[in-house]
Amino acid sequence: MERDGLFAGDDPFEIARGWLAEAEKSEMNDPNAVALSTVDADGLPNVRMVLLKEISEDGFIFYTNYNSAKGRELTANPKAAMVLHWKSLRRQVRIRGMVSREEGARADAYYASRSLKSRLGAWASEQSQPLDSRTTLMAKVAKITAQKGPNPPRPPFWGGFKIAPVEIEFWADGAFRLHDRFVWRRKGIGENWEIQRLNP
Ligand SMILES: Cc1cc2nc3c(=O)[nH]c(=O)nc-3n(C[C@H](O)[C@H](O)[C@H](O)COP(=O)(O)O)c2cc1C
Repeated sequence: MERDGLFAGDDPFEIARGWLAEAEKSEMNDPNAVALSTVDADGLPNVRMVLLKEISEDGFIFYTNYNSAKGRELTANPKAAMVLHWKSLRRQVRIRGMVSREEGARADAYYASRSLKSRLGAWASEQSQPLDSRTTLMAKVAKITAQKGPNPPRPPFWGGFKIAPVEIEFWADGAFRLHDRFVWRRKGIGENWEIQRLNP
């Protein structure tokens, strides 16, 4: 199968990293913004943006509050889909796969790399729970700041999720809507990838 140029390579993680690196040069902001889709207990899909923080050797990692709506949905049903779209490049990457928590040293290191205000904010926000006013939130931030001091540990309810893909599709805009699409699929994690060109 002819698969050159943008789509060349034997490792889809490497291709995704390459595309993201290009987007970092051309996107106005947040080239690592991804729409993350989960499914709730009724089977109703849910979607929101998160920031993709790492494309590791085996997955796509983002960070959040484990008690948030997405955190609960992923805990109950550890499967997810993501899509990245770069307007400046006219490209998208779609990812579907199995989800696990990333809550060891990697999560500690990422948490420690964030600004102190963000680290305290993670402690203060009961993400996705009702909030009666902004004043209540700011009072909580002040209380946490006094309690935790300048070097707060990573909250036990905050950390990463990793999507280990069973499917990754690379899409690039073509003239007259004749786009190029290549999908990488595998039966399970650790199995071989099968690559197909798809109709646009
Ligand atoms: C560009 C962008 C990036 C975001 N990145 C994150 C993120 O990395 N982690 C996160 O928890 N929420 C992030 N958010 C907020 C989420 O979209 C969402 O409002 C929040 O996580 C609560 O979602 P939930 O109630 O479905 O759990 C981001 C929002 C935008 C618009």
